[in-house]
Amino acid sequence: MKDVLEKLEDRRAEARLGGGQKRIDAQHARGKLTARERIELLVDKGSFEEFDMFVQHRCADFGMEKSHIPGDGVVTGWGTVNGRTVFIFSKDFTVFGGSLSGAHAAKITKIQDMALKARAPIIGLFDAGGARIQEGVDALGGYGEVFTRNVISSGVIPQISLIMGPCAGGDVYSPAMTDFIFMVKDTSYMFVTGPDVVKTVTNEVVTAEELGGASVHAVKSSVADGAYENDLELLLQMRRLIDFLPSNNMEGVPEIPSFDQPDRIDMSLDTLVPDNPNKPYDMKELILKTVDEGDFFEIQGKFAPNIITGFARFEGRSVGIVANQPMVLAGVLDSDASRKAARFVRFCDAFSIPIVTFVDVPGFLPGTSQEYGGLIKHGAKLLFAYSQCTIPLVTVITRKAFGGAYDVMASKHIGGDINYAWPTAQIAVMGAKGAVEIIFRADMKDAEKIAARTKEYEERFLSPFIAAERGYIDEVIMPHSTRRRVARALTLLRNKSADMPWKKHDNIPL
Ligand code: HXC
Repeated sequence: MKDVLEKLEDRRAEARLGGGQKRIDAQHARGKLTARERIELLVDKGSFEEFDMFVQHRCADFGMEKSHIPGDGVVTGWGTVNGRTVFIFSKDFTVFGGSLSGAHAAKITKIQDMALKARAPIIGLFDAGGARIQEGVDALGGYGEVFTRNVISSGVIPQISLIMGPCAGGDVYSPAMTDFIFMVKDTSYMFVTGPDVVKTVTNEVVTAEELGGASVHAVKSSVADGAYENDLELLLQMRRLIDFLPSNNMEGVPEIPSFDQPDRIDMSLDTLVPDNPNKPYDMKELILKTVDEGDFFEIQGKFAPNIITGFARFEGRSVGIVANQPMVLAGVLDSDASRKAARFVRFCDAFSIPIVTFVDVPGFLPGTSQEYGGLIKHGAKLLFAYSQCTIPLVTVITRKAFGGAYDVMASKHIGGDINYAWPTAQIAVMGAKGAVEIIFRADMKDAEKIAARTKEYEERFLSPFIAAERGYIDEVIMPHSTRRRVARALTLLRNKSADMPWKKHDNIPL
């Protein structure tokens, strides 16, 4: 009996060593942790239970029959994050570069199926070179199985991908179909094909960082939702993110104890908006001063920063925050901002996370570069996303809400449940200068007349009161009481019920 127990321990020890000490040392020398070390940091201490530790590939080509490593390049199982179940697969770069074989794929799809059945989030840790070249179509088929499950689970359980090394091929396409992608700066890369193939096919010489580093995907391409300094920081931040997310689309948002009074007022907000309407102010200050304990988890903070998206809490319950940022491009809606916010809004709606929208938007960005880039379609994405929401929508207009952007930013007309405006709000088709130049074109040569017309326009339209007179704004509120008002609105809407007519699915302007 003792022998058998020892044999199990020996086999486990062999599996835990992955591709061997030399490759583990190389992994550490690159500033990366191993697949198992990462899991240990991600889940609650001692909570990880590993499955399929002894699985091996069945490939007999190109000498692979002589090379078997138990686990076959991916560590799978489940654990808890602050007591809540999560399923995990973590690619082991020390084993065949973390590449995917048929057996490796079967381990992942087993975990995907379990996560879906258990209605718990799944987190993939990627550090891998895509399809295992020696396996050919078995590897491609394996990816197909993984992709299908990504799609079936989409909108049912949160799926999160962590890019923690060089990732290519299927190891970027599967993450691309999940809800969130986070990267590690300087050690992780995402590309469909690596720099060597790029050189062969297009003769373009690029470094891995230039082709697909965090500086590309978290800033320019928006493929990634954020990037962190190292493995440790990423994994700890993911524990924070999980705390904000529901486990599935039926459970509702998690609730954690909050020590921040919901009726806390903040007098400094009364002077947040400058007297000069062209002067920016930091919308993040409003967010941090309004939400529980100033705790805000930003999504895509470095991409399209003219709009802010992220998670926060009121009375301990998660909300999504969408807010125009007057500090960047005056908070204008362009194609990138619209796409970014649309995807975030749809995530929140799919998982029944209420959205609080803070509005200060001068309109859509005009010009050929935006129009040629499809601003109409991209702007429509955000309009579509908000309009199809059945979750609670609470909106606060702090200053400008001009033109189509007024409609788009969770206005009453497209489904806003509770719409507040600060006394500084300006709700109109456009700002005074543009408006006067169009409707009083005949007076343009007369400076005095134009000044008088501008003043008249400002007094008549650049306030919240016409919208309030028509009931498009439920209440004009004092800035200092924003937290109290929003918290009460969210409580009021906790049991909101709204239905859409049956359809197979919608046809969002992709
Ligand atoms: C088999 C692989 C492999 C792969 C890496 N290895 N990728 N083995 N299949 N796809 C092995 C290497 O042989 C090496 O083994 C070890 O992993 C480490 O790889 P290195 O190249 O030494 O590491 P590094 O220099 O850091 O480069 C990492 C890399 C590079 C950028 C990922 O290995 C690479 O470009 N690999 C190929 C990527 C690729 O084109 N994959 C196929 C994509 S197609 P030893 O024994 O020396 O340690 C695909 C189809 C899916 O995925 C369909 C999508 C729609």
